[in-house]
Amino acid sequence: MLLENLKTPSLVLDANRMRRNAERIMARAKSLNVVLRPHVKTHKCVEIARLQTAGNAGGIMVSTLAEADHFLKNGFTDLTYGVPIETGKFVEAIRLAKACERFSILTDHAETAESLNEAARNENIKLDVFVKIDCGYHRCGVEPHAPEAVAIPRLISDSSNLNFAGILTHAGHSYHARSPEELLAIARSERDSMSELAQRLKDKNLDVPTVSIGSTPTMSQIDHTDGITEFRCGNYIFYDAFQATLGSCSFEDCALTVLTAIVHRDFSRGKIVIDAGAIALSKDRGAIEIDENSGYGRVLDVAGNDLSLRVNRLSQEHGEIEVSDEAILQRLKVGSRLRILANHSCLTAAQHAHYHVLEGDQIVDYWEIRRGW
Ligand SMILES: Cc1ncc(COP(=O)(O)O)c(C=O)c1O
Repeated sequence: MLLENLKTPSLVLDANRMRRNAERIMARAKSLNVVLRPHVKTHKCVEIARLQTAGNAGGIMVSTLAEADHFLKNGFTDLTYGVPIETGKFVEAIRLAKACERFSILTDHAETAESLNEAARNENIKLDVFVKIDCGYHRCGVEPHAPEAVAIPRLISDSSNLNFAGILTHAGHSYHARSPEELLAIARSERDSMSELAQRLKDKNLDVPTVSIGSTPTMSQIDHTDGITEFRCGNYIFYDAFQATLGSCSFEDCALTVLTAIVHRDFSRGKIVIDAGAIALSKDRGAIEIDENSGYGRVLDVAGNDLSLRVNRLSQEHGEIEVSDEAILQRLKVGSRLRILANHSCLTAAQHAHYHVLEGDQIVDYWEIRRGW
């Protein structure tokens, strides 16, 4: 089917760009001598995870237990669940751990580790548990120099039914860097805080099997990964307007767009309205620290050429685009198609049920997105 014959709004995945992104980061992980564990929250799609793990059921990180179940059913048996575990999820986590070759969970909380050990003992299983470290993002995790950064690994390691899997962090604050220099500094401190902590744990006779870091912006900048064993990035498979503005990639690397139709044109107000609103694009504001006019995404023609317009306002199903140039407005007729390169591809993808896979100007496949919890 021709791209422009798809109903709108629809999620469109440029297969060539996605393959190129996957290959580039696999090669980069190899040259950095780290195991790549892609975070599949970005796409929630089995076909894409297979591509990221080079056709094998390699290790991945998942963001929901529903994803864990879905990927396990499709042959992925080495999963890390990327949100700290809490008691309400113990039963499901233990079920998954029994079915997987390796199912690792995270905690930054001593009491959770204690109750998890009891739950695992009752089920006669040993669970792999990472300690989540806060390398500066301040979302969750223990600070690397806090006493808990040693005490919780020790507690896990001494627990009868837990294995200490290692330490894990995510430098989410890299998304707020204002320059490549700032981004590189964040990437280095993510790495250094983790390799130093791993060394301190080893000095205290704790075995640290995995030292896991990763975000797409820090992966794009990091100069070496001494002391690190695993890199988890997710967004790189699609990239988006946010990453391109930040400098993690170029605009030509961005693989995910939303096909949309113009539903209204207003010459007096100098604008068009499209049928892609917040529930087709997401309301992420993008890299506003660098470009305060990010809007809610960039406007492309159907062939993917940038029209130098932004989605300026969003309501649930409507997107408004200001067009000050009357000659351009004349060309943007009601019923014609555009593509939107949204700010944050992970959030955009999570609004949709399927990818429409694009090769050239043809839609050649249709892949499922596993949403929900
Ligand atoms: C715990 C964790 N690890 C890894 C990632 C991957 O980061 P990115 O999508 O920037 O590659 C995320 C993303 O939010 C995350 O929350």
